[in-house]
Amino acid sequence: MTEQDFIPKPYSKTIEKGSVTWESPSNIALVKYWGKKESQIPANPSVSFTLNDCKTTTTLSFSKKKSEDAFSFDVYLDGEKKDGFKPKIETFFKRIEQYVPFVKGYHFKIETSNTFPHSSGIASSASGMSALALCLTSIERGLTGDVDDKYFTQKASFLARLGSGSACRSLEGDLVVWGQHHEIKESSDLFGVKYPFEVHEKFKNYQDTILLVDKGEKQVSSTVGHNLMHNHPFAQERFKQAHINLSALIKVFKEGDLDEFINIVESEALTLHAMMMTSMPYFILMKPNTLEIINKIWVFRQETGSKICFTLDAGANVHVLYPQRECEQVGEFIKNELVAHCQNGQYICDQIGFGAKEIV
Ligand code: DP6
Repeated sequence: MTEQDFIPKPYSKTIEKGSVTWESPSNIALVKYWGKKESQIPANPSVSFTLNDCKTTTTLSFSKKKSEDAFSFDVYLDGEKKDGFKPKIETFFKRIEQYVPFVKGYHFKIETSNTFPHSSGIASSASGMSALALCLTSIERGLTGDVDDKYFTQKASFLARLGSGSACRSLEGDLVVWGQHHEIKESSDLFGVKYPFEVHEKFKNYQDTILLVDKGEKQVSSTVGHNLMHNHPFAQERFKQAHINLSALIKVFKEGDLDEFINIVESEALTLHAMMMTSMPYFILMKPNTLEIINKIWVFRQETGSKICFTLDAGANVHVLYPQRECEQVGEFIKNELVAHCQNGQYICDQIGFGAKEIV
């Protein structure tokens, strides 16, 4: 598939107005996307767990307007008008206009809500952009008539990527790959694909408890962050490493080797932060409590033989990953030892999920 394949033929139908609703989850990367080229093309392949409970629901209402000279939309979060969100969506519309040319012909009302608190430090861009992309693709399906499900998902993921890279991994469950990788022939830089190989039952219902260490605004926006990889002294090695780690994970997923899973996932998280610490300008996004949590996880693992591990996003919050069969034991450990390091004791329990769905 190329970008050209996502430019639609002239629409065969007209619709005056209507509304669609999609619910889309967040995701947590195991091999991280960090660094991109022009047009939201990732510098390396990544793979993520789709989450189940952290999600965004978006209703997109649309009505035909007379002129097609500018984008026209209003955004609401939890029923409250949010003009502050408009520039990001305007940029998104500009990027996708050639692929969904109907966007200039309608006025849109975008009503969105998240299951997680907006100020929790959990990025809503993956779930938010994928929900919006799915709504737009649904509307387009109405204008073109029959579209097969595979193309529908690819196109929605393609559009979501143009809103936020990691959003293209938020449509399907439960493991999604984005970015070309030589062992995964269906993988693409343009959209996410469902992980196509065998996954051991040990990964079934894998748990992710998100410890909210710092709920403040992001210190480094993702755009600034990805740009730090341009001319980064270690960039090329890092991109190579992501390919190697994804290859290694294919074996891990098949065989259920949780020790190797831990090695790869924790190393990926720390490498992401190492990239930020060694770029110019440089940043430390972990907080003292992030390190306290990591150390306690390591001690707990050493002492109990648990398969608990952690991963990080581009921030201070910690995602604690563990197999479902350890729910009780790890749950107790989190409550007794780790919650003390969370801001206001806040954390979110989640697990691997099955992807986005349309609400009808
Ligand atoms: C650290 O997808 O937020 O979470 O494409 O600029 O919107 P943009 O970036 P974004 O980057 C996410 C980076 C990450 C790792 C990952 O999810 O793979």
